[in-house]
Amino acid sequence: MTLQDLAKSLHNCQRCKLAKMGRAQVVFGVGNPNASVMFVGEAPGFNEDQQGEPFVGAAGKLLNDLLQSAGLSRNDIYIANVIKCRPPNNRDPEPDEVEMCKPFLMQQIAMISPTLVCTLGNWATQTLLDRKVGITKVRGQAFYLKDFVLFPLLHPAAALHQGAMLEPLREDFKKLREFLDRQAKPVEPTGATPTEAPTLEIDQPQPAQMELF
Ligand code: URA
Repeated sequence: MTLQDLAKSLHNCQRCKLAKMGRAQVVFGVGNPNASVMFVGEAPGFNEDQQGEPFVGAAGKLLNDLLQSAGLSRNDIYIANVIKCRPPNNRDPEPDEVEMCKPFLMQQIAMISPTLVCTLGNWATQTLLDRKVGITKVRGQAFYLKDFVLFPLLHPAAALHQGAMLEPLREDFKKLREFLDRQAKPVEPTGATPTEAPTLEIDQPQPAQMELF
């Protein structure tokens, strides 16, 4: 199955109650199907629902600006959401909706096979880490999962609601750039000490990490 086949199979999806709660369309995802960096948000909002693309409203405009600050453009990346349909009045996704839709996000990730998945905000982060962990504890750090590195970032919408979050959000994208630069550096010749691991291993938590979970 290709990414396009998966998108077609979800067209007019009726698997959860959101199908009958006023959504205009399923918002599958957009971007480079061979991207090595993928971004995952929470759910489509009004503009995304109307246009059929993730992050095209105000949060999307801010995201474009942040991507540029990190030297990335939307042509380089792929963007999707945890749930593909707009919840009524932009309410939070409900557990049954996430449970129904998460396998499709996992299939997208498997097909695109990115090296790095950047989650935007609490919902996407907790869904992909499979743990109830606050975004403020894990933002701006890399987590080495089985198939990809997860890099949680604050959600751009948070900064639109609370101006004080804008600076921390910009810092997160700076850390993302620094992380990408570290990965791009050629490996030191033998004899050099390995560069410091920039992350926490979540599969086998070390004592210092336990408080996170
Ligand atoms: N917020 C999200 O999480 N996703 C979108 O597509 C738009 C806003």
